[in-house]
Amino acid sequence: MRVAVLAALFVSFFPGGLASQVDISSQQIEAGKKKAEYCAGCHGADGNSEQTDYPILAGQTTRYNYLQLKDYKSGRRKDEMMNPVAAQLEKQDMVELAAYYAVQRPKGPRIQSGESSVPFRPDPARVIAGRSKSAEVLCTMCHLGEFSGQNEVPRVAGQHPAYVIKQLKEFKNGTRTNDAGTMSSVAKTLSDEDIVNLAHYLASL
Ligand code: HEC
Ligand code: HEC
Repeated sequence: MRVAVLAALFVSFFPGGLASQVDISSQQIEAGKKKAEYCAGCHGADGNSEQTDYPILAGQTTRYNYLQLKDYKSGRRKDEMMNPVAAQLEKQDMVELAAYYAVQRPKGPRIQSGESSVPFRPDPARVIAGRSKSAEVLCTMCHLGEFSGQNEVPRVAGQHPAYVIKQLKEFKNGTRTNDAGTMSSVAKTLSDEDIVNLAHYLASL
């Protein structure tokens, strides 16, 4: 299957989200699939993680996932699990892994229930509050409508709330600094309550 066919196929699954990813080839996706077996223990075979500390990678933009792997490798983004994993990857591995995850279908946010997890049900009042905060801060100016993401701006729709909350707090308190200032300046304006509301809203998309 060639690029144009794939692009048409996946754009219909993810309107907007993958439009910029026409450069993904089926060879890259196949190669990425094999390499992703190593990541499956944490992120799930198709990038839909069961444990909510581990982000959903399915449907993420290739550019964003590639840049994050590069940042974990260089140490610009710090995480005790991901730094040693990324240290073993070469540029081509990162490109192929990102291509594979970009075309997987995201299956929705989850919440921990003891050792395992169950589908997350957003609280309707928090969804409304989160949506109005998002409109006020103009999040979708960068993340696009419904948070579908574009290029280096990640898709955050349907991400696990526990992971979203951790990232927004880390941007806010300066633990995560690989964003060239874009998200940290946004996150500084958010209260802890706003962050929880936004996580519910994002999970509802
Ligand atoms: C031992 C568990 C573990 C393994 C194995 C693992 N990851 Fe991760 N990964 C994590 C955790 C935890 C995070 C979130 C860390 C943080 O909060 O910064 C993460 C984050 C990521 C991110 C950033 C996603 C985002 O939304 O910002 C990418 C991309 C990623 N992993 C790709 C991979 C790939 C590709 C592999 C295999 C080569 C892999 N991971 C293997 C645990 C793991
Ligand atoms: C000026 C552009 C911009 C605005 C406005 C913006 N973001 Fe972001 N956001 C980014 C970029 C760029 C990244 C990726 C940063 C990086 O590479 O580490 C990001 C990352 C994130 C992440 C981390 C995703 C992950 O997988 O780790 C979350 C969550 C997020 N944004 C939520 C929001 C919310 C909620 C708002 C509004 C309150 C918002 N963003 C507003 C540009 C923006």
